[in-house]
Amino acid sequence: MKRNKITIVGAGNVGATAADIAATGELGDIVLIDIVEGLSEGKALDIAEAAPVRLYDAGIIGTRNWDETADSDIVIITSGLARQPGMSRDDLLAKNVQIVKDVSRKIAEYSPESIVIVVCNPLDAMVHAAAKITGFTRNKIMGMAGALDSARFSCFLASELGVSVKDIKCVLMGGHGDDMVPLPRFTSVSGIPLNELLAESKIAELIERTRKGGIEIVNLLGYSAYYAPAAGAIKMAEAILKDQKAVISCCAYCESEYGVGGYFIGVPAVLGKSGVEKIIELKLNKTERQQLEKSLAHVKQLAAKVDELL
Ligand code: LAC
Repeated sequence: MKRNKITIVGAGNVGATAADIAATGELGDIVLIDIVEGLSEGKALDIAEAAPVRLYDAGIIGTRNWDETADSDIVIITSGLARQPGMSRDDLLAKNVQIVKDVSRKIAEYSPESIVIVVCNPLDAMVHAAAKITGFTRNKIMGMAGALDSARFSCFLASELGVSVKDIKCVLMGGHGDDMVPLPRFTSVSGIPLNELLAESKIAELIERTRKGGIEIVNLLGYSAYYAPAAGAIKMAEAILKDQKAVISCCAYCESEYGVGGYFIGVPAVLGKSGVEKIIELKLNKTERQQLEKSLAHVKQLAAKVDELL
């Protein structure tokens, strides 16, 4: 059987960790590409050398040559600058949009049939840029944010409640910024609604921590998170490659959905072999809708900046 081919662009912390998780999960053969001489080659070789110890079959190579990426099934874009203390995700826009532009051109040239998962920030705006440059149909381009943000919310909830992380199911919408919209009304612990188990004030506190989850790590490390972002991206890739029809909050193109009007924003979506196969439309209450609209206004502003720069 032909193995899947996964290209990961950027061999920094997120890219290399994603390659490691994808290899360990035997999701396919992996091409790690970076512009820095030796970086992707060294990390790929190191990961390949772990295979005989950890016992998985997955080819992995590092390269600077786009020829090696040809005909990938999935391309994950992790390249770009990451935040440092004192920076917001939006501060990265001007630099990262140029990187995403170059990378997207290469993806369209070498892997025109691929499905693209964008990870670099500001996330929603970078997905907008990748979609414009590749010209791919909108179901084949998406961004990883909701998988990470809902994992953070789930992690905090599980720890607060003293229950397994496996039992928490949550939905998170909006852009990948401080105005993201965690939805406690659609969050449960093995089917038990969250508000049966936690006081409203505690839920609000954990939502706030989730909204600031990225900067909490930047302030601790001095640079951006990568284990959980990489895990989120590979969860999405796995859902697509295995045609799981998994419901995952991710940054997807919405036209009439939620009245978004043609932007990429975080929504619950069904991911399968065609990419984003369906967007699930929830009946939001007034407060939730207002929060989503605020976040959408921010996403639109950043998309307009991208349009000026492309
Ligand atoms: C974060 C970055 C990856 O939220 O946006 O940690």
